Amino acid sequence: MDTKILQVSLGDRSYDIHIGTDLLDQAGALCRRALPRAGRVAVVTDSNVGPLYGTRVLESLTAAGFTPGLITVPAGESSKCLARLGELYDAFTNMGLTRTDAVVALGGGVVGDLSGFAAATILRGVDFIQIPTTLLAQVDSSVGGKVAIDLPAGKNLAGAFWQPRLVVMDPACLNTLTDDTFADGMAEVIKYGCIFDRDFLSRLAAAPSRAGVMGQIQSVLYTCCDLKRKVVEQDERDTGARMLLNFGHTLGHAYERAGHYETWTHGQAVAAGMCLAAGLGQRLGVTPAGTEKKLRALVTAFGLPAEISCSMPDYAAAIGLDKKGVGGDISLILLAGPGCAVIHPMKKSELLSLLEARI
Ligand SMILES: NC(=O)c1ccc[n+]([C@@H]2O[C@H](COP(=O)([O-])OP(=O)(O)OC[C@H]3O[C@@H](n4cnc5c(N)ncnc54)[C@H](O)[C@@H]3O)[C@@H](O)[C@H]2O)c1
Ligand SMILES: [Zn+2]
Repeated sequence: MDTKILQVSLGDRSYDIHIGTDLLDQAGALCRRALPRAGRVAVVTDSNVGPLYGTRVLESLTAAGFTPGLITVPAGESSKCLARLGELYDAFTNMGLTRTDAVVALGGGVVGDLSGFAAATILRGVDFIQIPTTLLAQVDSSVGGKVAIDLPAGKNLAGAFWQPRLVVMDPACLNTLTDDTFADGMAEVIKYGCIFDRDFLSRLAAAPSRAGVMGQIQSVLYTCCDLKRKVVEQDERDTGARMLLNFGHTLGHAYERAGHYETWTHGQAVAAGMCLAAGLGQRLGVTPAGTEKKLRALVTAFGLPAEISCSMPDYAAAIGLDKKGVGGDISLILLAGPGCAVIHPMKKSELLSLLEARI
């Protein structure tokens, strides 16, 4: 498989995304091209990914003349916290990281968000490179520069915009994911189709299984990253068009919150959130009839829930706290058709009434 390369154009924060099988072994050479001056590289990974891919990445970095050090955090969302962030700062300073050195994230969205925030803030910011290893991280979190940790008050509450200097994705890493983690990423893949690309959605529907997606994985990753690239280039700081990426997420947050971020994974919550948003859109006359039914069939085929039950107080709390909602209004993302999302401003109270009618 030839490597495919995308460029995210953001002026002096521009960077390339490389997508190709066995690129892990070329990570060092690619990093060297992106960071000619760096010496030390702090490679942050987690307890699942490190044993699988750590050695290959370290060897490749060493061969390219870097002095890499591996830092491993426990796998799981709970590592996106202040305590782990503090440990990363200590590890970086202990290894003698300087302002011309770099941090590499080798892992899923948790490792990317945590180590990216550490990179953004240590020594007032050092270069950062993403080597995403989950489907979600490859199609979503490694591109766009949002980095964050969770606080007791909520998810992603302390963070920054810190674009990577390079993203290297090796689709072969996805072979070791559990089915659940693969399905989680599929929710975001389906989301891109719903929002922007009707043909892509049809391609997914024509081969609705993990094997079907892996059979065309390079083009799936390329399509998703290209769509995200366009949105990020238009709206780097998430004040306008980037909001479209929230399709399924406002309602999805209600499910995640109601389950205390344990019962439902992000992808499961987003899948059910997208289906509900399609249903609400149909009720509002924005979304064509039949859209919800097709979407439910697609998410179900990928092992994701089309529906999650949630109480009105949980919906209300999630909508009230939604970072994207200003005052009494909320911008719900709806589908004007398959592959065409629109921002639909409405009163929060109106949304709650619609949800109530649906329960
Ligand atoms: N920054 C953004 O723009 C953005 C966007 C979406 C999500 N996120 C964040 O991403 C996080 C979720 O990311 P995620 O779903 O990748 O979760 P994750 O990083 O926790 O990875 C999921 C699981 O898969 C394991 N894993 C990772 N790669 C593997 C591989 N190749 N083989 C085997 N196991 C592997 C991990 O150890 C973990 O147990 C959340 O914290 C979310 O807030 C950020
Ligand atoms: Zn998401």
